[in-house]
Amino acid sequence: MHPIKDDNPFVAISCCWSLLVVALLITRIQFLKAEFSDQTIIFSINREIGVPGWGVNDSDYCYWPGILCNSNQTVEKLDLSHRGLRGNVTLISELKALKWLDLSNNNFYGSIPADFGNLSDLEFLDLSSNKFANSIPKELGRLRYLRALNLSNNLLIGTIPDALEELVRLQDFQISGNRLNGSIPYWVGNLTNLRLFAAYENKLDGEIPDNLGSVSPLQLLNLHSNQLEGSIPESIFAKRKLEILILTLNRLSGTIPESVGNCTDLSSIRIGNNNLTGNIPKTIGNISGLTYFEADDNNLSGEIILEFAHCSNLTLLNLASNGFTGMIPPEFGQLTNLQELIFSGNCIFGDVPESILRCKNLNKLDLSSNRFNGTILKDICSLPRLQFLLLGQNSIRGEIPPEIGNCIKLLELQLGSNYLAGTIPREVGRLKNLQIALNVSFNQLSGQLPFELGKLDKLVSFDVSNNRLSGPIPQALKGMLSLIEVNFSNNLFTGQIPNFVPLQKSPNSSFLGNRGLCGQPLSSSCNDDDKEIYPRKVSYKIVLAVIGSGLAVFTSVTVVVLLFMMRERREKSAKDARITDDGSNNRPLITASNVFVENLRQAIDFDAVVKATFKDSNKLSSGTFSSIYRATMPSGLILLVRSLNSMDRTIIHHRNKMIRELERLGRLSHDNLMRPIGFVIYDDIALLLHEYMPNGSLAQLLHEFSKQSEYEPDWPRRLSIAIGVAEGLSFLHSVAVIHLDISSGNVLLDANFRPLVAEIEISKLIDPSKGTASISAVAGSFGYIPPEYAFTMQVTAPGNVYSYGVILLEILTTRLPVEEAFGEGADLVKWVHNAPTRGETPEQILDPKLSTVSFAWRKEMLAALKIALLCTDTTPAKRPKMKKVVEMLSEI
Ligand SMILES: *[C@@H]1O[C@H](CO)[C@@H](O)[C@H](O)[C@H]1NC(C)=O
Ligand SMILES: *[C@@H]1O[C@H](CO)[C@@H](O)[C@H](O)[C@H]1NC(C)=O
Repeated sequence: MHPIKDDNPFVAISCCWSLLVVALLITRIQFLKAEFSDQTIIFSINREIGVPGWGVNDSDYCYWPGILCNSNQTVEKLDLSHRGLRGNVTLISELKALKWLDLSNNNFYGSIPADFGNLSDLEFLDLSSNKFANSIPKELGRLRYLRALNLSNNLLIGTIPDALEELVRLQDFQISGNRLNGSIPYWVGNLTNLRLFAAYENKLDGEIPDNLGSVSPLQLLNLHSNQLEGSIPESIFAKRKLEILILTLNRLSGTIPESVGNCTDLSSIRIGNNNLTGNIPKTIGNISGLTYFEADDNNLSGEIILEFAHCSNLTLLNLASNGFTGMIPPEFGQLTNLQELIFSGNCIFGDVPESILRCKNLNKLDLSSNRFNGTILKDICSLPRLQFLLLGQNSIRGEIPPEIGNCIKLLELQLGSNYLAGTIPREVGRLKNLQIALNVSFNQLSGQLPFELGKLDKLVSFDVSNNRLSGPIPQALKGMLSLIEVNFSNNLFTGQIPNFVPLQKSPNSSFLGNRGLCGQPLSSSCNDDDKEIYPRKVSYKIVLAVIGSGLAVFTSVTVVVLLFMMRERREKSAKDARITDDGSNNRPLITASNVFVENLRQAIDFDAVVKATFKDSNKLSSGTFSSIYRATMPSGLILLVRSLNSMDRTIIHHRNKMIRELERLGRLSHDNLMRPIGFVIYDDIALLLHEYMPNGSLAQLLHEFSKQSEYEPDWPRRLSIAIGVAEGLSFLHSVAVIHLDISSGNVLLDANFRPLVAEIEISKLIDPSKGTASISAVAGSFGYIPPEYAFTMQVTAPGNVYSYGVILLEILTTRLPVEEAFGEGADLVKWVHNAPTRGETPEQILDPKLSTVSFAWRKEMLAALKIALLCTDTTPAKRPKMKKVVEMLSEI
């Protein structure tokens, strides 16, 4: 211990006076030396990588953002995370007293400096989410005091170096999301302090060491998406501390060890997509805290064990695509927390036990592709939260109970390929939320289609094919405004196919096999085709009728539906693509591609662009019209790839027009607009390429990062973002482009937090006035849609101003556009506008973390709030023009 800090200086002084003087002198000299050297180093680092905010206080580097010194002015902690930095970081290794180094979430590239091994006091090292490449330097093994090492999400290759064996104090070891190969070294199992080991998404092969966890209190083990073989070692359960186990997507074989039941703290077991065999051990029943058990796509067998019923916290149980047999134990009724029960693709038979109705939280019941041979439970809708009822491909008999109409939350109903008889009950028309699919195909249903089906105005996919249904296709089906996919084939339908765009747009195969059916799209025309009505007009009338009957919420709800649908589809196609990707080196068939920016041509590899969108971990966000991915080129260049949701057929049919528009937009130049730099088209999917924005979206900055107080954007930064967005939109309006989806998720931030409005190309690529009243007619994101849109179905410049006003409110309040806290039916706009009626002052609306900082900030925020209120006025004509908004904001 240092003499100066001695608890009892009196003793020291009286006994060793001279020693103290000497010691003081030495300290002083060391102090000066440290100050001199660390200051020089920090200055050099700043010259090299230019840290925002550094150098404002010239000499007081200890107060610069991200730096923490000890009492000797020596830097002990350096946190440069999330700053969009690049450059050479080797100099940091000169800060010899560093204990904590966080460089995560930047753009640092090249090798990890071997000199970091000289930071002999380092306890915490986080280099995650950068572009560090090459292999892990063995010099890191010299960091004897290291407790946490995070190298995740880089471009690291090679094997895990054996030199790291020396990191005996290591507790958290994270190397996920790289391209590491080789096997997991045996010494990892000898690290006596290891609590967390995450190496998922690499190319690791070989077996999991059979000593892993045998000597350390292992709590979290995540190795998913590798090529690991062999069995799950017993050792990981030895210390009984395991809480989370994720081994999904490997090649693990053998059985699930009985000793898993020793780890009563386990909350999550995910071992799907392996080659595991044998039964599920009954000891699972000892894990009372288990909430998540996922073992789908294995070769597990035996009966579904009733011991699961003892895991009273179980929320998800997924045993799909295995070889389970037997019946569902009635004891499962005890699982009152269960939300998803997924047993599809097994050989389970018998009745679905009545007791399942006690699982009041059940949201998804997927028993498809089994051998269930009872009837549909009459009271199945007493499950108040049921959204997915998937019973297709079984041997279910009897009728569809009329009580099915009570499942008012249902989003998807799959009953295809069973032995259902009788009629389709008219009560199905009460399933107003049905969106994803209604499928009763391949049964023995008879009678007419009830006209109540026309009330299902959100339904996208409707399949009644291969039954014995008769009579005409009711005209009332024109109320199914969201329809995209229909199948009436192989029934006994007669008469004319109703004139309704979604029906005429369907392939004729959707109507074949009905002797009595005529009219478009079938080639057999009806005799009395004098009733030629303009389809566009009809659907327009229906739209008005629907809106007239008070369904103004229609648009916003539909947006949610669509988002949902699109995500499901993308995920499925991404999964399918990955499967073919594994099997052979199937390359996606690229039909057109280009890069508009000459000096980027060399660096962009179109195959790599497409492949990047197959990987969920690359997904950054998804919006109404597109999903955004991060794509790393073999050249090291990182791109933002925007995958247009392929729903709109204009993308395929007007490809050349679209390419011309893209090239035109590529030349459109404004500092606050994100231009496309190229595109790739394959199958019916269009990918637009943009420069990578290291700081994510405004939505993330406001609602995710700011939860960590250090990233809380201050008011001046927020104001400058607000002005930038307004300037971008103002320019867009000046060249007569209306944005279709303004939201904080569509405002991206570059390294200097300059905002860029994204998705400007959508308005030119998707024309909402074309097509049906479904997908393409709904523009905008939930919470940002101007109220008049429900009536006009048109996005206008004042509509853009409204959406901008919502962003400005988000910036001022740090609240989401839609939050439960606003109360029933209210959004951010209503909440703010109604503040006076609630007796609240404007100050109670503004984010107090900002408005209470200074009087000046508060004044500016109140001025901006006034502008936001103008922008979000219910009457479009009363909203200011975008140009005026820029002027008013700049005056602040
Ligand atoms: C400059 O340093 C002082 C302490 O000396 C600190 O209070 C102040 O916040 C710093 N200013 C900036 C802009 O970093
Ligand atoms: C409806 O279900 C059947 C049987 O499960 C299936 O073959 C068919 O593809 C489904 N229809 C649609 C449109 O998905």
